[in-house]
Order: sequence, then C-alpha cells, then structure tokens
Amino acid sequence: MKDVILTGVRSNDEPTLGNYLGAFLPMVRLQREKAGEYQVNMFVPDLHSFTTPIDHEGLYERTIKNLKYFVAAGLDIDNADTNIYRQSYVPAHSELTWILDCFTYMGEMSRMTQFKEKSTNEDNISVGLFNYPVLMSADILLYGAKWVPVGDDQKQHLEITRDIAIRLNNKFGELFVVPEDWKKQLDFSARDSGVRVRSLTNPDKKMSKSIDDPRGTILLSDDPTDAAKKVMSATTDSVGAIHFDWENQPGVTNLLQILALLTNRTQNEVTAEWDGKTSYGDLKKAVAEAVQAFLETFQARYNEVGKEALISKLEASEEAMNIVANETLVRVQAAVGLRPKA
Ligand code: TRP
Repeated sequence: MKDVILTGVRSNDEPTLGNYLGAFLPMVRLQREKAGEYQVNMFVPDLHSFTTPIDHEGLYERTIKNLKYFVAAGLDIDNADTNIYRQSYVPAHSELTWILDCFTYMGEMSRMTQFKEKSTNEDNISVGLFNYPVLMSADILLYGAKWVPVGDDQKQHLEITRDIAIRLNNKFGELFVVPEDWKKQLDFSARDSGVRVRSLTNPDKKMSKSIDDPRGTILLSDDPTDAAKKVMSATTDSVGAIHFDWENQPGVTNLLQILALLTNRTQNEVTAEWDGKTSYGDLKKAVAEAVQAFLETFQARYNEVGKEALISKLEASEEAMNIVANETLVRVQAAVGLRPKA
C-alpha cells in the first residue's frame, strides 16, 4: 500500500491567474513528482461549496469546468496512481462526518478562525459553515491520508483532524491513520507557500474574484488582450525605480513575481534583470505580453480537454474510492457499536 497524498480542489469560483500560479501549478507539480511513489487523491469538496450561500444553478458544471482547468494546467488524468473524484459521489464522507461530530466539541470548533472570519457580520450563519472542519476531517481520515498539502489558512483544520483522529484512536483502538503534523507537511511538500499573487489595482490585497475589483483580477477565462490591458493599467508607486520589495513597492513586486512564474524563471533571475530600472511602462509591457501569451496557450489547451475522458476518470475513481471509504466507515461503525464487531 502506497502512502496517500490527499488534496481538495475548490470549485466555487471562476479561477484567477492567482489560483493558477498559487494552487493549480503547485498541485500539478506535486502529482508529477510524487505519483508512482505515492497515491495521489485529488477531490472536489463539492459538499463544502455551499456552507456560505452560492448560486446553485451553475455548481455542477463549475465543478467539471474547474477540473478541466486543472487538466489544462498539466494534471495527468491517465496516471493510475491518481484518483480524481467528487466528494458528494462518495456518501461515506457525509456518514463519517456525523459520527465524528459526536466526538467533536463545541468549544474547539468555536475557536476556528476561518469560521469566525466568515461568520462575523453575517445574519444567517449555516450549521454547515460551523461544521466545515469536521467534514474536512472525514475527507482525510476515510483514506488514511498521511500527507495533506494545504495552505496556511487550513492549518487549524489539519490540526483538528489530528485531534479527532487521536481522540478516537485512544477511545476505540487504532481506527485511523493520523495525518502528519503541520511542520512535517511543510517539509514534505517543500511548497513555495510564498506565492500569493496580488490584485493589480490593490496590490496590498490578494488577487481574488470579487466584483469590486474586476480590473485588478485576471480570470483564466479572460480575453487575452483585455487581460494585457489590465496589466498595463496596474497600480504601481511613485518610488521611480524597480525593486523587489513587497513592503514599499507591492505593485511592482507583484508584476515581477508574475513575470518570473509565467516565464518559468527564478525570481532572482527576473529581479536581477529589472532591478533599478526606471521604466515601469517597460515592465508592464513585458508582463502584459507574458500574460497574453500564457492565456492564449492555456485557453487553447483548455478547449482541447475532452469532457468524456474526464468524466470517465471521475467515475472510475469514484467507484474505487467508494470501496476504500466504505471499508473505513464500516470499521468505525463497528467500533462505535453500530455494526457487529468483526
Ligand atoms: N478546506 C480546503 C480549502 O479551503 C478544501 C478542502 C476540503 C480540503 N476538504 C479537504 C483540503 C481535505 C485538503 C483536504 O482549500
């Protein structure tokens, strides 16, 4: 049995250039490097996608579309050690969540910062939002995943997963593989967690799909020439010379970062080439060209991704994952007394 690397691919939003550079590429790289030695489970947490209100009309198609973006970014769907599946197609996720809920405490859940952030100043906060981390624990524990490469914002969720697993193991015997701790996760994925692409118009903020800031955000579906125009009108500063300095020149630094990532060069190399130059216009032009060329190639690749091949990969993985997940679920059901002891 190979150790499992498990990661969730969110499907709520139209992906941005920031998602591509900060999440899609690292994940694809991880698959390319580790599949073979490891089993790689990439799943869409579709049940997590409406813990806060969404437009349900497009959810199903958006899930498929976002997976197509991953394939266009280089995800290999023919790899036998990679499973790609949708959470809601493996009912054991929901069933295990309920059982774990009964061993999870209100106090520890109330301390989750993501819950606090998302619920502040909201009127109708769903129980699903509160319970989000327990479903995430089930996602991980069902497959005995040791490795869960996630961003800093998910650190607490990984920790509560470990707490729940250890708690149940202490009570019922060795039920779950406990995922490795945060420090080991960081070493394992040696992830360049520094990649956080900023908004072009508000370079102090993360690039995100928000209606207030359409000119600051490049969507993977943007028209390439329009995207180039957004780069040309990016906010910079009045320093007058280019330096890689997030503190004082976030706009220019963001452009240097995008340029390095899109042209596949190291940051040092790109920074050295531009450092001290005074024409912000030249830098913008270089980035605009890189963005335009990238989107043209990427969108052409996206259009070639076959939906049928993707769906059949999903179905094959979902069949296999139901078997694995149900084995864990039955073990837990027996441990808590819902099924006869084996
Ligand atoms: N919460 C994760 C995020 O926001 C997505 C996710 C859900 C996940 N379940 C998971 C990630 C299990 C890793 C493992 O990015």
